[in-house]
Amino acid sequence: MIRYTQEAVTSMKKLFRRIKSRFRSKELQRFSLTVVDDVGSQVVEALENETILKTLTREDIDISYYCGGNSSCGTCRVKILDGKVSQPTGREKLVLGVVEASERLACQARVGGDIRIEIIHLYF
Ligand code: FES
Repeated sequence: MIRYTQEAVTSMKKLFRRIKSRFRSKELQRFSLTVVDDVGSQVVEALENETILKTLTREDIDISYYCGGNSSCGTCRVKILDGKVSQPTGREKLVLGVVEASERLACQARVGGDIRIEIIHLYF
């Protein structure tokens, strides 16, 4: 049986408290992601800084993503109707080409607040 000194036990307790508080502070904020289409809309929960594609696939919402989220096929296009998302990267701009500013790749746009989107279906 291992015996610890009182000093060792106290320092381990402090360490566990510090680790626990660090995990608590890293809890992600939750936002709502509303997907609008011709029929109506569907609201799902999105985590802070999560890609829109990850949120949609987790919630089983139909979207094409042929390259698996590697920002190379351009099939995961969405239109940001409202809300805060990350700025587009150079690669994303290259894949998107000349399009409306509200058009983004779902695999690259990260959630920064409550957002409303429309999925652009390029292929049926
Ligand atoms: S999944 Fe291919 S560009 Fe987003």
